[in-house]
Amino acid sequence: MTRKLFYLSLLISVAVAGCYYDTSEELYSAANQNIVCDTSAVTYSVSIAPVINASCNSCHDKTHAAANGNVTLDDYSHFAAVATGGRLMGSIRQQPGYFAMPNNGGRLSDCNIAIIQKWINMGAPNN
Ligand code: HEC
Repeated sequence: MTRKLFYLSLLISVAVAGCYYDTSEELYSAANQNIVCDTSAVTYSVSIAPVINASCNSCHDKTHAAANGNVTLDDYSHFAAVATGGRLMGSIRQQPGYFAMPNNGGRLSDCNIAIIQKWINMGAPNN
């Protein structure tokens, strides 16, 4: 295979994989593995809510929460309660003893997990 063809097929397989994992986090983590994770200016509204919206709220918004462990994550107060209640980090880190989330496959990027941990350490502010 020529170099050009090789890169073309690589590009296509990345594009296909991108469509298959239809969450922005998968793309984000694949694309940014070598970029330093910035946890210096973490906010609920900008750093966290969009990630949870993209990866979790298809199952954990108010409409679907009852069918998914009664866990609601689509607004600040519900999300903060779950986050500070102790079940969140174990599940997104996919540790033993927790239901691994998201449960439709994949995993949040290490950077997004670090950002959420930082926000909890800050006292889970509504910022
Ligand atoms: C495809 C649906 C689906 C998605 C997407 C999903 N969850 Fe869940 N989640 C569930 C179900 C179902 C349960 C209940 C597990 C059970 O009781 O079997 C659950 C339970 C949980 C729990 C309680 C876990 C425990 O061990 O007590 C947390 C916390 C949670 N989800 C967080 C998240 C977060 C954060 C995301 C996004 C990163 C996410 N979930 C994405 C379906 C989903």
